[in-house]
Amino acid sequence: MTTVPAPADVVRSARHGDVLCITIANPPVNAISSAVRRGLKAAVEAADADAGVKGIVIVGEGGNFVAGADIREFGQAPQPPSLPEVCNRIEACGKPVVAAIRGAALGGGLEIALAAHYRVALQDAKLGLPEVQLGLMPGAGGTVRSPRLVGAQAALDLMLSGRHVKAGEALSLGLVDELATGEDAQAAGLALASKLLAQGAGVRRTADAQGLADRAAAQAAIDAARADTAKKSRGLFSPMKIVEAVQAALDKSFYEAVKLEREAFLACIDSPQRAGLIHAFFAEREVAKVPEAKAAQPRKLESVGIVGGGTMGAGIAVAALDAGFPVVMVERDQVSIDRGRANVEKVYDGLVAKGRMTAEAKATVMARYTGSTDYASFAGVDLVIEAVFEDLEVKKAVFKELDRVCKPGAVLATNTSYLDIDAIAASTSRPQDVVGLHFFSPANIMKLLEIVVPGKVSADVVATAFVLAKRMKKVAVRAGVCDGFIGNRILAVYRQAADHILEDGASPYEIDAAVRAFGYPMGPFQVSDLAGGDIGWATRKRRAGTRDPKARYVEVADRICERGWFGQKTARGYYLYPQGARAGQEDPEVLAIVDAERQKKGITPRKFTVDEIMRRYMAAMVNEGAKVVAEGIALRPLDVDATFLYGYGFPRHRGGPMKYADTVGLPKILEDIRTFAKDDPLFWKPAPLLEKLVAEGKDFASLNQPQG
Ligand code: 3HC
Ligand code: NAI
Repeated sequence: MTTVPAPADVVRSARHGDVLCITIANPPVNAISSAVRRGLKAAVEAADADAGVKGIVIVGEGGNFVAGADIREFGQAPQPPSLPEVCNRIEACGKPVVAAIRGAALGGGLEIALAAHYRVALQDAKLGLPEVQLGLMPGAGGTVRSPRLVGAQAALDLMLSGRHVKAGEALSLGLVDELATGEDAQAAGLALASKLLAQGAGVRRTADAQGLADRAAAQAAIDAARADTAKKSRGLFSPMKIVEAVQAALDKSFYEAVKLEREAFLACIDSPQRAGLIHAFFAEREVAKVPEAKAAQPRKLESVGIVGGGTMGAGIAVAALDAGFPVVMVERDQVSIDRGRANVEKVYDGLVAKGRMTAEAKATVMARYTGSTDYASFAGVDLVIEAVFEDLEVKKAVFKELDRVCKPGAVLATNTSYLDIDAIAASTSRPQDVVGLHFFSPANIMKLLEIVVPGKVSADVVATAFVLAKRMKKVAVRAGVCDGFIGNRILAVYRQAADHILEDGASPYEIDAAVRAFGYPMGPFQVSDLAGGDIGWATRKRRAGTRDPKARYVEVADRICERGWFGQKTARGYYLYPQGARAGQEDPEVLAIVDAERQKKGITPRKFTVDEIMRRYMAAMVNEGAKVVAEGIALRPLDVDATFLYGYGFPRHRGGPMKYADTVGLPKILEDIRTFAKDDPLFWKPAPLLEKLVAEGKDFASLNQPQG
């Protein structure tokens, strides 16, 4: 956890001749806590009142200026002074104020810099107003000052995208006045302040800047942003508030606009979307905090081997190459290794064709890639990832080979989706080195990586897996061994709930529409068509013998697959895809198949509201999530959340399924499960953990404690 120093230390002032340097020192990123606000305002007031001080420099200690408001304080009772008050006080100062920016000047951090009179940035600076990504908008004058400084169009782009701008672009936009070399922000700030004083330059308030002087151009930019936001923001609350704030910046006086901005900002703070998005922000960081990463030093990790160059092997190879590793891929025979190489090259060729990579850069990356049919090529490799067919015997044979050829201490990983990794580890003489690395397709794009921890693996191997994930810029979630680990295990359950709803009366199109309206990019039947129905069909056939004969089994998917309708790749699945169309059309024949299945089982179809569809879908997800947490398959509810946010398209503004359950209230979810259980007690068994939390009046968040 972040160590918060004593309030007195978080803002320090020191005189350098007639310039006062104010340093914000609140590690790790100088977030603006209430203590920082108090300290900064007091320091600026003191400097303003001190006749000996002619100029002021504001810097952040360490590698960052200020990363924004302290996100951990949102939702708590606000403590004075507010950040707009602090920014207004800085701007009102009667002596030139310089902000010297190293590293992040984001959100409220950039707002402090905008309230200063001059800005200098070091080469590593990144500036931005990323509040929108947290369900917020700039709330300390950012929507009013930024368009005055850089114009409405550039300001709207910054605030609606939330993107970070590097030093060079910041200079060309007019966000900063100067660039400086080196790493010493204080020296750069003092140099600019001395120069300004020597020139006799006075204060220069952003409130007076003329970026909105061309009213027609500003209005056109706002209108365009309003239309674009209406089209794209998909139920998100804060983007339109940003547009309206810039409209107010154009129409109203400076201080009136700042006041309106504050009101809109507070409305964003109160929205559940803010709570969901900030939960997602922290969950993404907390998942890396696992006991093994604290207990052990990672092993050396400088090269990666991959077995299998199919869909997953090639995607993992690209992820490893992109992370800078040399990669050795081993396949069964020459034809397969040629295909594996082609699969890897195809990804880079796509980038070259789109102009996102040069041919030379591709050649440089591919120079780190080697294909081979000989396992001995793995002799010097630090970590090998197996991605061959999903068949335990095939995988065991591969691991026997790895055991034979790999150097002692090499990490041996499997990308299996479902198989028992303890059994795979047992096929080697070194189970302590075997771990699961479950990537998601396409592996070079999807952010999620489940790090699956079998019984005998040593802690340093798990720690090494987390280092690999970080190098690959993945969100890695620690999972225990079970059928499907965290994600696919929970998916199997809510997917069944969707099939039950289908058989009981809703069409696949109604269910998909309800799930999209909830915020998913696609519904479950669309996903099935995209992934290929044959994959699930093969799994169902494999498991047919182990299925509980008393459990409800919906055969619609099997009927569809029996016709060879596997989804997009066969131009037909739950939807029709004429001439390779990506967007599916409803198919009356599918509805007839569903009807026939209902008749076979004597089910009279009934109507489902969108609300009931989602209550069933989410209750199934949350209930299984609670079981996964209780069994230790996921360390905490937030690990389930991160899994679904980064691997399964769960709407980010809802924070993940467990956060969503907390938002709705666990008693309500449990009550739903008990109601649904009346018709199907075998499927709807309340998770004991859910019952316990409800009995104790607690929520899932109460289990999101730091690990280790
Ligand atoms: N408040 C509180 N804690 C923060 C924080 C913030 N604004 N920004 C980062 N942190 C914490 C992280 O949670 C993490 O804590 P941990 O070590 O306990 O896990 C630690 O700082 C380091 O963060 P990262 O792991 O993300 O470090 P990186 O070096 O990878 O990234 C960063 C640094 C680019 C600054 C990144 O943390 C970031 O993007 N932060 C959020 C920036 C942001 O969204 N600012 C806007 C806030 S809202 C606002 O300012 C409202 C205003 O308009 C009124
Ligand atoms: P695939 O069929 O596309 O590729 C498998 C590759 O392994 C083939 O190229 C084959 O030639 C090669 N291979 C088979 N036996 C081999 C051996 N003994 N030595 C060397 N190479 C061998 O399969 P896909 O989809 O890439 O899946 C691979 C693994 O990844 C499976 O375990 C699967 O469950 C898992 N997975 C798949 C996902 C997906 O969406 N496709 C997602 C996550 C995991």
